[in-house]
Amino acid sequence: MANLWSGRFAGEPDREVFEFGRSFPFDRRLFEDDVRGSLAWVEAISAVGAIDAADARAIADGLLAILRDGRQDPAYVDGPDEDVHAFVERKLVERIGEAGKRLHTGRSRNEQVSVDLRLYLKRRIPALQGAVAELVAALADQAALAGDTPMPAYTHLRRAQPVLVAHFWLAHVAALRRDYAYLDVAAGAADCLPLGSGAVAGTSYLLDVQALAARLGFSSVAANSIDASSDRDFVSVFLHACSLAMVHLSRLAEDLVIFTGEEFRFFELSDDVATGSSLMPQKKNPDPLELIRGKAGRVIGRHAGWLATMKGLPGGYNKDLQEDKEAVFDAESTVGGSLSAARTVVAGLALDQARARQWASGLLLATDVAEYLVARGLPFRQAHEIVGAMVRMLVADGRDFGSLSVEEWAAFSPLFQPDVIAAITPGAAVAARRTPQSTNPAAVASALADVRLWLTVREGGR
Ligand code: ARG
Repeated sequence: MANLWSGRFAGEPDREVFEFGRSFPFDRRLFEDDVRGSLAWVEAISAVGAIDAADARAIADGLLAILRDGRQDPAYVDGPDEDVHAFVERKLVERIGEAGKRLHTGRSRNEQVSVDLRLYLKRRIPALQGAVAELVAALADQAALAGDTPMPAYTHLRRAQPVLVAHFWLAHVAALRRDYAYLDVAAGAADCLPLGSGAVAGTSYLLDVQALAARLGFSSVAANSIDASSDRDFVSVFLHACSLAMVHLSRLAEDLVIFTGEEFRFFELSDDVATGSSLMPQKKNPDPLELIRGKAGRVIGRHAGWLATMKGLPGGYNKDLQEDKEAVFDAESTVGGSLSAARTVVAGLALDQARARQWASGLLLATDVAEYLVARGLPFRQAHEIVGAMVRMLVADGRDFGSLSVEEWAAFSPLFQPDVIAAITPGAAVAARRTPQSTNPAAVASALADVRLWLTVREGGR
């Protein structure tokens, strides 16, 4: 079969090597973007007289018909072509004849593939952000359901201080909202028109590149044609945003693997997302959470692999850049799939209030005991000393603060008055935190309201 460059060679390309270099099996995902880019391109070159108006009209009509066919039947976007650009051009010539051969006037695939992938990401990133928002909504629902139930917060995976269960959920929301913003940054990085750069030196027609950018919805134009033909920073930025999203999803998954396990059991996994064991009849495994955690490695690998591909490239387009697409598509699908699995798992979790409350009590109230003494005038370091000694004794006796009588409290320090009994509870501990980012119930309620507002504004904004 003839391809876009066969004129240069007397014989046929080696079949296996040609197959090795083909990108059509995966870049067909850029079909719509390629046609959109070409529709704008044909307008731009006809505006400067590089092709005549009749040909331009025939090309535009042909492209629109191809777009229709491709949308109607995905199987239409198929063939032995080298890449999606060759496919669209072949279909165009098949449909409108000679005029189709004028579409590529003044253009290089080097800039075309870059514009296609930029258009693709600009239209697909909002869908990923929508999936982030759906997970945020599920987390916010869990936060609302939890009410004022406390649970332990951990540092070093040791019980540290009581927090509201809602505060735990909103911690993951905070990270996901950053992911949403990083995806905005990635869309911004893609938002620059490379057309007009030609193969590497620029285009020989005085195109109105600003108008072309506006026509395709880009807010800026590449500054330098050499840079433009090899610039894939937007791919790196996107993969970085995807990697961070997976890191956050993986950490959420890990928290939930732990907290739904038998030893913790603060939450119960819904049966319909759990899996059993072929051998051990009692098992209820959190497979989707483990898979999310596992797939984080895959996306991080795509990101690291892509940076390695980029680092040694000489200036201008190099075929290595073709590796960008599989990295982008795989990261996109993996993040999208992980977000929606996480949403389903989170939505189905049932909180065991009694259990969470029970484990929010005990020696993890030690900070509050020390602060009780500080409030009564003792320097913090001394208070820490006294409470440390209390903890040592309580641990040795297998007891905790809740079992101490007023007399026993007073024996540790005369500053302990009978009101200490009511002051040292998970509820009091949570209320004692004061800052806006703390687990104070009013602060958590206002954080939750802020998340709800963000979700509605976001929906309104799109
Ligand atoms: N399939 C190629 C890619 O993905 C398109 C650009 C080809 N350009 C070239 N000079 N061979 O990068």
